[in-house]
Amino acid sequence: MATLLSFLLFLSIISNPAAAQIQSKEESFISAVVSEKGLNFVKDLLIEKAVKTLTPLGLPDIEKNVKIPVVGAVHMAASNITLLSIDISSSTVQPGESGIVIVASGAMANLSMDWLYSYSTWLVPIEISDEGSAFVQVEGLEVGLTASVDNQNGTLELTLMECGCYVKDMVITLDGGASWFYQGFVNAFEDQIRSAVESAITKNIIKGALKLDSLLQTLPKEIHVDDVIALNVTFINDPLFGNSSVQFDINGLFVSSDKVSALSYLHKYSQSSISCGEALKMLWISLDEAVFNSASAVYFQAGLMHWIVDKVPDQSLLNTASWKFIIPQLYRKYPNDDMLLNISITSPPVIRITPQNIGATILSDMMVHVLDASESIPVACISLVVSVSGVVDISGNNLTGRAELDDFTLNLKWSKVGNFHMYLIQFLANILQA
Ligand SMILES: *[C@@H]1O[C@H](CO)[C@@H](O)[C@H](O)[C@H]1NC(C)=O
Ligand SMILES: *[C@@H]1O[C@H](CO)[C@@H](O)[C@H](O)[C@H]1NC(C)=O
Ligand SMILES: *[C@@H]1O[C@H](CO)[C@@H](O)[C@H](O)[C@H]1NC(C)=O
Ligand SMILES: *[C@@H]1O[C@H](CO)[C@@H](O)[C@H](O)[C@H]1NC(C)=O
Ligand SMILES: *[C@@H]1O[C@H](CO)[C@@H](O)[C@H](O)[C@H]1NC(C)=O
Ligand SMILES: *[C@@H]1O[C@H](CO)[C@@H](O)[C@H](O)[C@H]1NC(C)=O
Ligand SMILES: *[C@@H]1O[C@H](CO)[C@@H](O)[C@H](O)[C@H]1NC(C)=O
Repeated sequence: MATLLSFLLFLSIISNPAAAQIQSKEESFISAVVSEKGLNFVKDLLIEKAVKTLTPLGLPDIEKNVKIPVVGAVHMAASNITLLSIDISSSTVQPGESGIVIVASGAMANLSMDWLYSYSTWLVPIEISDEGSAFVQVEGLEVGLTASVDNQNGTLELTLMECGCYVKDMVITLDGGASWFYQGFVNAFEDQIRSAVESAITKNIIKGALKLDSLLQTLPKEIHVDDVIALNVTFINDPLFGNSSVQFDINGLFVSSDKVSALSYLHKYSQSSISCGEALKMLWISLDEAVFNSASAVYFQAGLMHWIVDKVPDQSLLNTASWKFIIPQLYRKYPNDDMLLNISITSPPVIRITPQNIGATILSDMMVHVLDASESIPVACISLVVSVSGVVDISGNNLTGRAELDDFTLNLKWSKVGNFHMYLIQFLANILQA
């Protein structure tokens, strides 16, 4: 799984995914396109895992009685037949209309086994037996499979449609006993070893596919980010198999962790997303604006968008004494009282994505409170509209971002300590930058 995770870190975000072109029955806000390079990576990972689980592998014993002229009835047995290693030199993966086709060809495999012959003839009335070990080299092993991936009720289901294994050639080398004498009989084992290898590999691929399918079933439909929000990762529609890539659509909206959210007003306004991908990447992810807006809406609905500012580096700024000359009424009414700011976001921040950057507009109200005799008294309310923009970039395996303040406007909504509009900017700048 660690490798799979590092693979997912190779993500890049592109601006105009082929993604957006399908007609989906249901709206999807995040699409992930696994490119040819990504498919090859997954294929190599699966093959490596398959080879690891296949070796060493014990195959069923083989017994045979053969009548040989002059000699008579010969009992032959091969036991402890062990598949030692498989070496896959080339493999391909090809998405097609019905699913994914993986072919491994020109593979070689090594096996070891113990052999035994016994016979008795009228010439020599006692039983003659001999035994030794053997090494089997399999050449031209071909393995192919076709698997389909469908969406079943929001989870992916993997079905192995076809699977085959073919052994072209094998060389059996006997060792021990009078092996030079028996080497000629070894062909008797060849067909059985061939079909044992073929059926063992096929069986293991079927088992592996079932395991992979149950792994897909256990993928969560929601990823919890924190106590408040979770990302809905329910798969939508069947995966779309292109000529060299596969696209997965997921719901991709943030929902409230406690599931009481009504985000039905979110629509796919645009296909815009953040840009920086090239064809060399393994995985392209395109995120719709609605993804970001759904997160902001959930946080807003959870009532988590307000902050109390009662500590600043220069604490004297949060005392009316510091404002004696700028807002005289404040000091006159509440001399030497501490103050705090209660900032509340008044509507969910709206996030816009352009090919160049991500921008957000935040509307908030900032209430100025005076703490007088352990009572918190609101004395003024300032509305604040802030525009920020940011750039998201990929640096190595890291998703990095920068944010800048573009613009802000302030308005004094009401005040019990006179109009200090002129000084508003100074007031805020002093407090927030201190
Ligand atoms: C069977 O073969 C394997 C691999 O060659 C070997 O490690 C193991 O000792 C053998 N077992 C017996 C019982 O001979
Ligand atoms: C099989 O054994 C031979 C000789 O021991 C070795 O050279 C070759 O690399 C082995 N092949 C595999 C597939 O392990
Ligand atoms: C789909 O999933 C829901 C909840 O996860 C479940 O109640 C329903 O029975 C499932 N339907 C099918 C056809 O599997
Ligand atoms: C896929 O390949 C076929 C034939 O090779 C071609 O006609 C088609 O345009 C390709 N589709 C895409 C999306 O590249
Ligand atoms: C998650 O997305 C699926 C598919 O769009 C949808 O049916 C489901 O209701 C969503 N879950 C929540 C909690 O919104
Ligand atoms: C801050 O404002 C919010 C909403 O206006 C209010 O619910 C909360 O009680 C205020 N907190 C303080 C400490 O005044
Ligand atoms: C990515 O982040 C890690 C941990 O924050 C850091 O050590 C590494 O230098 C970063 N890599 C790049 C290319 O920025």
